[in-house]
Amino acid sequence: MKHFLDIHKTDAGELRAMINSAHAMKAARNNRPKGTPDDDQPLAGRMVALIFEKPSTRTRVSFDVGVRQMGGQTMVLSGKEMQLGHGETIADTARVLSRYVDAIMLRTSAVENLQELARYSSVPVINGLTNEFHPCQVLADIFTFVEARGPIQGKTVAWVGDANNMAYTWIQAAECLGFQLRFSAPDGYQLDAERLTPESAKYLTICANPEDACKGADLVTTDVWTSMGYEAENASRMNAFKDWMVDEELMVLAKPDALFMHCLPAHRGEEVSAGVIDGPQSIVWEEAENRLHVQKAL
Ligand code: CP
Ligand code: NVA
Repeated sequence: MKHFLDIHKTDAGELRAMINSAHAMKAARNNRPKGTPDDDQPLAGRMVALIFEKPSTRTRVSFDVGVRQMGGQTMVLSGKEMQLGHGETIADTARVLSRYVDAIMLRTSAVENLQELARYSSVPVINGLTNEFHPCQVLADIFTFVEARGPIQGKTVAWVGDANNMAYTWIQAAECLGFQLRFSAPDGYQLDAERLTPESAKYLTICANPEDACKGADLVTTDVWTSMGYEAENASRMNAFKDWMVDEELMVLAKPDALFMHCLPAHRGEEVSAGVIDGPQSIVWEEAENRLHVQKAL
């Protein structure tokens, strides 16, 4: 059974094929109304369950619209309202859902929940975000970069912010696709060395400050200071990350044609200034749209 749980488990050739396919699928939409079906209907007669144990706007809507455009049907489920949220095991949920649906996307907290679902599911499982990884988003980000600037191989991506699910997924992608990832976070919010592989070291530079990370970068990216599930740490994070805002002064250190990305939702005035996210280098709306196309390719 082929699942999509993280980028490391996906072959680089397959990632590139998905990005090529996303280009073709995006072009094929050709400005047609959003509610109309694609010419190809590979999901006709198929049912996809989308399970959310955390909030979502983009993931929920892009998967739902994408499956429908491809001829399939979706069922959007809240983990809290399922028996899953009231003591039924993940293994039993996986076995039962596999009898009803053709694929499952799960957004959950611990990656172990996702792995458990995949272990007992007889239909493909897709990671719609865990505390550890967000592969659909990074796939969309790479597609967005490639679309705007060509191959990402050999390029430099600056990460300014928390060692969160997005940061670790970018590190996996750098190793898979051969680009450099410069990571910068304040003390106390560094990467966990145990989660890094010796191979990833070749593609990863830990920078002492956001300025070093951004110098000469092709892409600057950040994310919220407090990810979903870590809200109790919000006050201490606001203090620790106050010098880690991507603003105009930081962007000027990157290449003149550097792009700015943010997976969204964004907090203007915290991790990014309004001038940057709403400015000419920002490509965040294209990035959000591309979730749809790349997930259809996936
Ligand atoms: N970027 C992203 O995954 O957004 P949502 O939380 O709205 O799905
Ligand atoms: N790091 C963020 C990403 C949201 C899409 C979070 O996990 O809340």
